Amino acid sequence: MSLTAIVRGCGAYLPENVLTNEELSKTVDTSDAWIRERTGIKERHIAAKDEKTSDLAAHAARAALKSAGMDASDIDLVVVATTTPDLTFPSTAAIVQAKLGIEQGAAFDIQAVCTGFIYALSTVEKFLASGQNKRALLIGAETFSRILDWTDRATCVLFGDGAGAFVLEAQDETAAAGRGVMNSYLRCDGRLVDLLYVDGGVSATQSTGHVRMEGNKVFREAVIRISEAMERVVADACIKVTDIDWFVPHQANERIIKGVVKKLDLRPDQVITTIAGQGNTSAASIPLAYCAGVDDGRIKQGDLVLLEAMGGGLTWGAALMRA
Ligand code: ACO
Repeated sequence: MSLTAIVRGCGAYLPENVLTNEELSKTVDTSDAWIRERTGIKERHIAAKDEKTSDLAAHAARAALKSAGMDASDIDLVVVATTTPDLTFPSTAAIVQAKLGIEQGAAFDIQAVCTGFIYALSTVEKFLASGQNKRALLIGAETFSRILDWTDRATCVLFGDGAGAFVLEAQDETAAAGRGVMNSYLRCDGRLVDLLYVDGGVSATQSTGHVRMEGNKVFREAVIRISEAMERVVADACIKVTDIDWFVPHQANERIIKGVVKKLDLRPDQVITTIAGQGNTSAASIPLAYCAGVDDGRIKQGDLVLLEAMGGGLTWGAALMRA
């Protein structure tokens, strides 16, 4: 019997505190006009001092469970994609599992920076398709504000905090009726680590460090690598990119998204974007955008959805699913 991982529900959480471009331009040499024109970002959410990544993740997970009509006892796998864990160990997934009152199954984190949700979706899909687990909570959650250098205008204006979650369930072909994660394509080129990294860590410096990025070099890599991943993932499903209903990109920069849309001949009205109000929430941005599309009624059951991301590593990838 072949099993498919279908998305049964999704949930989102954004911290209450909003930081606008105008407010940022009072503390760092930038302007609303520069940020909007170069990135499409107007504002971002910032976690409160006592709010940790696991808190954001637990909020999003509860919302996803509610939308799936499930509770903690239904879940036997918790995976959190994050680059900003609460602690060096245990995993944020272990902390979230306890916060949700889940007493069975496994829990672990996946770290692929902004590509984390695609890496984690691909991993969870395989756990479910193999029959090893039945229902998973897959969460992308970040408090990127904690690893920003707030004096570096080239990076601090780009990121925000938030969390998004999927509940995925293993179903046989009859029950799935064509829905589910169809395939994914993951890449990494570790030679490009210097383009985007954090200058600290447990083993290297015994500190957390701050985000460092050669933004224009990353930008030049982005459209080519993202488009390649998207074309590959649809080719593996024997369809064309233009056959999809919805494009849910990682929200790094509006100009990158528009470049990909143009290169692959997609229509602007097929794209779900949240970047204006959220900035780049790293591993959380794809589930946050997906949930926005579901909540406002654009993404409907059975729609063909293409997800993609690129981030530190460099890592990049894409995934194709029927909602
Ligand atoms: N406000 C005003 N001026 C600024 C700011 C700012 N916030 N930041 C940079 N500048 C200046 C620079 O100093 C430079 O000035 P100069 O010409 O006098 O030297 C000028 O603006 C142009 O700088 P660039 O870096 O060339 O600007 P660019 O058009 O490339 O935009 C940006 C920068 C937005 C960072 C863009 O390169 C980008 O989005 N890159 C990709 C980011 C990305 O996709 N990252 C991957 C995911 S993130 C992750 O994995 C963690």
